[in-house]
Amino acid sequence: MTPRTSRLIEKLRAKDKISILFVCLGNICRSPAGEGVFRSIVEAHGAGERFVIDSAGMGDWHIGQLPDSRMRRHASARGYNLTHRARQVKPYDFEDFDIVIAMDGQNAADLRELAPTADDCGKIVPMSEFFSPGTRYQCVPDPYYEGAEGFELVLDLLEDSCARLYDTLS
Ligand code: 4NP
Repeated sequence: MTPRTSRLIEKLRAKDKISILFVCLGNICRSPAGEGVFRSIVEAHGAGERFVIDSAGMGDWHIGQLPDSRMRRHASARGYNLTHRARQVKPYDFEDFDIVIAMDGQNAADLRELAPTADDCGKIVPMSEFFSPGTRYQCVPDPYYEGAEGFELVLDLLEDSCARLYDTLS
């Protein structure tokens, strides 16, 4: 975690309720999976009251759709039922959410363009900041044009980073 992210997390830890938005490109693979994995960790800790969890995409191509059937299948095999309906991220999301987690560097750059204020930019954090030390990945890679391994990798990275995100917030 960068010092900037540590300061943001410190602020969030003091709050009764924390709202988290996971963001990727299409909102049908990585971010709904992040939402589902994080929600399952929160529920396993009986902490549902403390978190508002949602996901959104930079693009508008898949609005209203369930997550990609491949993502749902791979997630379901690990016990996650992904029922989110895709939506596009909007400037007002920066009012509604305390932290906006970007799956890759392009998502983070696009979010910075969208953020209405410099303070809002400060809410954007790459998911990779919560990867275990020594992980060889720099982001959660887009699995859309990949095979089964791409979807498994997304879930591996999200299970690791969501657990670390939860720990750092509690
Ligand atoms: P996601 O994956 O950003 O993880 O939801 C993608 C889904 C759809 C597209 C690209 C990436 N697309 O080009 O439609």
